[in-house]
Amino acid sequence: MFDTVTHQTLQLSYTPAVAKEAAPLYDKVKRVVSELDWATHAPYILEINRLKKQMGAVVLAHNYMTPEIFHCVSDFSGDSLQLAQQAARTDAKLIVQAGVHFMAETSKILSPEKTVLIPDLKAGCSLAASITAADVRLLRQKFPGVPIVTYVNTSAEVKAESDICCTSSNALKIVESLESDTVLMIPDQYLARNIAKQTKKKILTWQGACEVHERFTANDIIKFRKAYPGALVLAHPECPPEVCAEADFSGSTKAMADFVIGKQPKKVVLITECSMSDNISASNPNIEFLRPCNLCPHMKRISLPKILNSLLTMTHEVTVDLGVAARAKAAVDRMLEASK
Ligand code: 13P
Ligand code: SF4
Repeated sequence: MFDTVTHQTLQLSYTPAVAKEAAPLYDKVKRVVSELDWATHAPYILEINRLKKQMGAVVLAHNYMTPEIFHCVSDFSGDSLQLAQQAARTDAKLIVQAGVHFMAETSKILSPEKTVLIPDLKAGCSLAASITAADVRLLRQKFPGVPIVTYVNTSAEVKAESDICCTSSNALKIVESLESDTVLMIPDQYLARNIAKQTKKKILTWQGACEVHERFTANDIIKFRKAYPGALVLAHPECPPEVCAEADFSGSTKAMADFVIGKQPKKVVLITECSMSDNISASNPNIEFLRPCNLCPHMKRISLPKILNSLLTMTHEVTVDLGVAARAKAAVDRMLEASK
């Protein structure tokens, strides 16, 4: 079993020795984390990294994690597709998911033999909350024979009722891989409408939306372009189609990061969650990020103290009913296969 350490034995403080040991890590984030904040982060970071080694754990961090998590304690970071691929690949027996609940469930579905922890059980997602397995069964009755492509931002039960999953980075490819001329894309109405603009297939959808991305408007971008002429504008495909149409590029969090890092523009506007800009900015000093961003309250539930607590107490373990997990895995595996 895993070697755990009790809370009581821990005395975390920012001593000169901690400062010295953590200095190489601070170098990675000093552009975006103040010295004052670092003094509170550094003791947690060292302790988390020590415990991870001792327990053989890995931290998988989504691109929306704050920089001290993303750059200083994660073993692997990326978009939803990359995190799912990594969960399937890692040899570690213990995964701490620094992300939201559906991501931890996806890791568990792909690796039922591993222990998957989420530092805060309330880290949900408005898309995952927008649809139930019963809703999907009704959709199947209403549209017999129409394949159901389910965004990974859903519960295991919803995935289990689906034909295949998708993420924002492979949605078009997945839709195009299906023989049917009509496809149901659930639950994100905006992702579905953005994909509908790129395919000849008829796309049916559901009324779900990301509470972070649905708040952006095309007018936000028009105003930003006026205020900062020449700035490159990128938008996540969970934004409404008229927002993506105003942007220079639209793609998953990984696709946006790759685009910006590859192009090295002087000024960038990322129409997405705020930590994306911080995480890219930390290692790209020549790019100025302008911030019309929105925070995801679910992603922001994950913090260094909660990650440490997760390792110390082995909580909160994510479990999925074996029957549901097997059916959900089939839909996720089909996606992973089609994304190769
Ligand atoms: P990505 O797969 O693009 O990282 O998106 C996940 C997500 O939750 C965005 O809101
Ligand atoms: Fe869900 Fe939106 Fe938060 Fe992503 S940003 S986890 S889609 S609520």
